[in-house]
Amino acid sequence: MCGIIGYCGPKPAAELLVEGLRRLEYRGYDSAGICVRTGGKLVVHKKKGKIKDLRDHVPEGLDGETGIGHTRWATHGEVNDTNAHPHLDVTGRVAIVHNGIIENFDALREKLEDDGYVFVSETDSEVIVHLIASLYDGDLERAVKQAVMLLKGTYGIVAMHQDEPGKLVGARNGSPLVLGIGDHEMFLASDVTAIIAHTKQVIYIEDGEVVSVTADNYQTSDLKNRAVDKKVEFISWELEEIEKEGYAHYMEKEIIEQPDSILRAMQGRLDHEYATGHLGGLNMSRQELLSVERVKIIAAGTSYYAGMVGAYVLESVARIPATAELASELRYRNPIVEPNTVYFAVSQSGETADTLYAMRELQRKGARVLGICNVVGSTIPRESDGGVYIHSGPEIAVASTKAFTSQITAFYLFALMMARMRHLGIEAGARMIEQIESLPRLVEEVLRRKETLIPIARKYAHADDVLFLGRGINYPVALEGALKLKEISYIHAEGYSAAEIKHGPIALINEVTPSVFLIPDDGLRDKVLSNLKEVKARKGRVIALAVDGDDEVGRIADDVFWVPKASELLYPYLMVIPLQLFAYYVALELGRNVDQPRNLAKSVTVE
Ligand code: F6R
Repeated sequence: MCGIIGYCGPKPAAELLVEGLRRLEYRGYDSAGICVRTGGKLVVHKKKGKIKDLRDHVPEGLDGETGIGHTRWATHGEVNDTNAHPHLDVTGRVAIVHNGIIENFDALREKLEDDGYVFVSETDSEVIVHLIASLYDGDLERAVKQAVMLLKGTYGIVAMHQDEPGKLVGARNGSPLVLGIGDHEMFLASDVTAIIAHTKQVIYIEDGEVVSVTADNYQTSDLKNRAVDKKVEFISWELEEIEKEGYAHYMEKEIIEQPDSILRAMQGRLDHEYATGHLGGLNMSRQELLSVERVKIIAAGTSYYAGMVGAYVLESVARIPATAELASELRYRNPIVEPNTVYFAVSQSGETADTLYAMRELQRKGARVLGICNVVGSTIPRESDGGVYIHSGPEIAVASTKAFTSQITAFYLFALMMARMRHLGIEAGARMIEQIESLPRLVEEVLRRKETLIPIARKYAHADDVLFLGRGINYPVALEGALKLKEISYIHAEGYSAAEIKHGPIALINEVTPSVFLIPDDGLRDKVLSNLKEVKARKGRVIALAVDGDDEVGRIADDVFWVPKASELLYPYLMVIPLQLFAYYVALELGRNVDQPRNLAKSVTVE
């Protein structure tokens, strides 16, 4: 969603800010802007559209050593130049950028308008700049603190004042803000990708904290003016990881990276001697792990489907009752927190508002919530009671791919560990380790066959609707396949349990609607094949993902993508990757913006 960058230092700020905004493009946005202090005045340039539109609009050689920039993903007010950030107060002396949503903006706006403040935009954010201006008495930091105390809602804010050159003030409540410490220069950003080209030393600002920054100094404090000591952390991501490295799209790169990203998720976490999983960050003693009687998983979107796979694996391998639920739904149904239950909050970004708020609600009720996250230092892992980093590396494409396979890897490791503490013998544990370790090789084999999907994707790219059908552990994979296709190709797609189609969706089958069937050689293979035949009997077109040597499927389906034979629990990996590629190739054929599909944001930080 919206992105923020701020800069204090000797370099020309405008260029650096625009470049930082380019690195935030992946989050999803519809307009962008910058403000720099030049010639003693604040100058704003903002534009609806892409960063290149902003770049064309900013005068070449624009001077200025301090500045703020923003990519906006509209929530209040339409997408236009005026509603884009930064916002200036009426005198043009204060500028702010804001991520989040101000819930009491109507009341604040009314009051400010009564006091003579003139609003030019329709945004909730504009109240912040007028509030700061109305409270300013020569100290920006104080005015920001007083202003944010009047706000209800979420914010990550960076403010600057014309009369305080070389200074930025940031504040956070619910929307991420990170301070980057450079060599005689400082950065404020919503996300480390904006600043990684300049520094790897960062401080994560927490809710209720304010940071005051100059090129050589920073101070962090709370809203009661008490100094807060912060730890400087080191970002391990490399700049190359956020570059495309010759691939046409980030999505393609991230799909292809999966043998490595899956390996990273398991590295150092398999204990061969005792044939078990080893997850150091759970912060749970052996006794506590042994007393777990139930696992509940909360997440959104792709992470939710990974959670469904995880629940299946936990039940079948560890024999622990496990369920996955949409975080957005759990939060508002007054969930019952029972003893001996452990919760997992699964999130690639670690910032998804629905998941974060559900996690906080559970924690308030006394639950232990562990995170399964990718972005190190993001809010969910920091606020969770422990957890697992999946170490996928930056996922830049809006559509999530490599995070899914690493999230499920984390569940496989946890299931192995829990099973070994219960009924699973050392030999069975060793066999499971062997299977998990075979994953990078099997995934590589699937990727080697990717070209065979291109003609299939082309053939079906103009369909209006596509069904994705799977069962058992591959049912959530079918849901994920449908999500991927609709997200990036805009084709209407639905995922169902193959068993469910006769309860309704089969009415959609006709000569033109394709169905994608997931047919691993597991205990449900024959059942799924019967469902496939039901579709064929109604003249439906069928694309099958089937296992090498399954000639019967080869004879019946219109098109087949073949996956290598593997043990039953591994098929979600071997099935989801062709579905990611299918969506990718269809979107390419249709000329879609693969990495930044319309209306979507990478990190959904609003409810
Ligand atoms: C799908 C997708 C979204 C995210 C969802 C949760 O491709 O990107 O559905 O999976 O918004 O995001 P995280 O995992 O960051 O919590």
